[in-house]
Amino acid sequence: MANTILVGAQWGDEGKGKIIDVLTEEVDIVVRTQGGNNAGHTVWIGEKKYVLHLIPSGILREDKLCVIGNGVVIDPIGLVQEIEELERVGIRVSGNLLISEAAHVVFPYHRELDARRESMKGQNKIGTTKRGIGPAYGDKAARTGLRMIDLINPERFEEKLRLRIKENNEILRALGAKPLSFKKVHDSYRAAGDRLKPLVANTVIHLHQAMKNGADILFEGAQGTFLDLDHGTYPFVTSSNTTAGGACTGSGVAPNRMDRVIGVMKPYTTRVGEGPLPTENAQIADMLHGMGREFGATTGRARRCGWFDAVATRHAAILNGIDELAVTNLDGLDTLDTIEVCTAYKCGEKVLEYVPVDLETLSQCEPVYTAFPGWNTPTDKIRSWKTLPPKARSYLKIIAEMTGAELTMTSVGPARDQTIFL
Ligand code: GDP
Ligand code: IMO
Ligand code: MG
Repeated sequence: MANTILVGAQWGDEGKGKIIDVLTEEVDIVVRTQGGNNAGHTVWIGEKKYVLHLIPSGILREDKLCVIGNGVVIDPIGLVQEIEELERVGIRVSGNLLISEAAHVVFPYHRELDARRESMKGQNKIGTTKRGIGPAYGDKAARTGLRMIDLINPERFEEKLRLRIKENNEILRALGAKPLSFKKVHDSYRAAGDRLKPLVANTVIHLHQAMKNGADILFEGAQGTFLDLDHGTYPFVTSSNTTAGGACTGSGVAPNRMDRVIGVMKPYTTRVGEGPLPTENAQIADMLHGMGREFGATTGRARRCGWFDAVATRHAAILNGIDELAVTNLDGLDTLDTIEVCTAYKCGEKVLEYVPVDLETLSQCEPVYTAFPGWNTPTDKIRSWKTLPPKARSYLKIIAEMTGAELTMTSVGPARDQTIFL
């Protein structure tokens, strides 16, 4: 399968976890390259549901190496918990997981600052997951962050943490929050550091050695294209590069070593958190929530929902260089007679075929819709492209064509076998 980057082509939660799990069968290594435990990737195996936050979804397949790359921000206590929960249900993690020594560490002051900044923003809040992601990447950019290599080195860790707690306590006090106890943070983080130490490695060298030996690697994107720090609907974004380039910087594998990019998308649109969602529609939200779907895997929040936005996915295709498309959740549209697709944005006299940078411009855009016939029949038991309803096939082909990439997979349910290859 060679080296594949998989990205979300919308606003996150496209079903990346499910597709990663299916594709992992064909690769040797799965790598997370950005984000942190703001991600929630759901994988169903039989009757069992797993939600992965920091550990690559590939961990659920036996004997596949999983790597948390340098571009990820790690809450070590959350990570230890995630490892223990998986091991409790019989998933082998130690031995199958490597953690980059260069990955930055998320601390309680990051979470506290995340929450404070959100509440100070009031109505303008981003709707973050409050996992401390923004402040942790902020420290990385400000060159005041601590990395996994610091966490596992007791003396160095104590010295660096002392300074960081001192500075952050001053900030927390100024914001009216309670200061943190150095000892409490230190001791709990050191315990997590000791637990994780055997897994911490120079993952760049490891990946390059593996590639030399012929390994195929899958790069598991987190979040989605329009949550990208540079290319998303700023400031309503996350703090990492969720687009394909992030897979290179976040792993140390160069662009010319990548072979293809797969974009994952739903045949409708969802977003959790604040910020623009041009095709948002209360009726489709009610329908999907009524089916018991589209609730966040990390925070449990009801996701906002809308029609498929081909302007956004076309934009995502160029930002990521998407070669192939996997469309999940086809079954979500099974009960509709008519399906609307946004084909352009009308902004005053102008018709836009891309997502404008300026949110004020975007807020003045009206989606232009084209209606397509729905198939109005269940698809969840269908297992082949040929036996999908012709109207479903036609709809999928149309949205792939509008996006500008080749449709190679679709999915009609959360289970592994509810996956259809073209
Ligand atoms: P991710 O963050 O991109 O991995 O996506 P999430 O796991 O947050 O959300 C996707 C949701 O859709 C999860 O509940 C999946 O189990 C579910 N899912 C994925 N593919 C399908 C599908 O084809 N049909 C249905 N019904 N659910 C799906
Ligand atoms: P996966 O990998 C959907 C959203 C948050 C918020 C914004 C910033 O499961 O697709 P943050 O906590 O990152 O500072 O929040 O980004 N967000 C996600 N939305 N799926 C995700 O991950 C997300 N990770 C962050 O809701 O709007
Ligand atoms: Mg998710």
